[in-house]
Amino acid sequence: MANSAFLVSTVLLSCLAATCYGATISSLKETLLVTASPTPGQVVKAGEDKITVTWSYNNTFASGTDSTYKTIQVKLCYAPISQVDRAWRKTVDNLAKDKTCQFKIVAKPYSPSNNTFTWTIERDVPTATYFVRAYAFDSANEYVAFGQSTDAHKTTNLFQIQGISGRSVSIDIASICFSAFSVVSLFGFFFMEKRKAKASQQK
Ligand SMILES: *[C@@H]1O[C@H](CO)[C@@H](O)[C@H](O)[C@H]1NC(C)=O
Ligand SMILES: *[C@@H]1O[C@H](CO)[C@@H](O)[C@H](O)[C@H]1NC(C)=O
Repeated sequence: MANSAFLVSTVLLSCLAATCYGATISSLKETLLVTASPTPGQVVKAGEDKITVTWSYNNTFASGTDSTYKTIQVKLCYAPISQVDRAWRKTVDNLAKDKTCQFKIVAKPYSPSNNTFTWTIERDVPTATYFVRAYAFDSANEYVAFGQSTDAHKTTNLFQIQGISGRSVSIDIASICFSAFSVVSLFGFFFMEKRKAKASQQK
């Protein structure tokens, strides 16, 4: 009894905490301008290619709006097309539960302008369509603002990353086929030579 009361109050408290701190994407102002270097639709390769991200404060907002911003975290996020039927990439308004942005690109102290970072796409990033998002945090490490390299519907300026696993599997298959082919042709060549040798002996 005491246990379940404790459980209920814990659940209630954590729900309250989530709403009190307003850690939902819909409650955040989009005050940051973010760009990512791949052109729309470009295919870049995990483990090889680099992405350059820039971000700055959108000066259309009143100056001082960013006075509480302490740090910036830049993340790589799944576009809706790569979230379909994949609960583990689902967008949830509550940012504590959101799974849209799973790859950290960089975290830095906040600066309103002249921010750029070049990231080599990590080897564990899977094949999918992506965009880049930046979150601003205050000194209590709460979300206070964001910006993203795509529009609100997440349909523009998307790019594709080709994951390493898909690539290495096809390379492996290709090399297995190739070695099988070489063994067969080597034997073929060997037998042909033998037959030729026999034939010339019999002459
Ligand atoms: C800056 O923010 C304003 C207000 O939200 C928006 O209308 C404008 O398009 C933004 N600027 C850029 C360059 O996106
Ligand atoms: C922007 O950053 C670069 C590299 O850190 C620096 O050389 C340049 O002077 C900076 N520009 C401004 C306007 O702060």
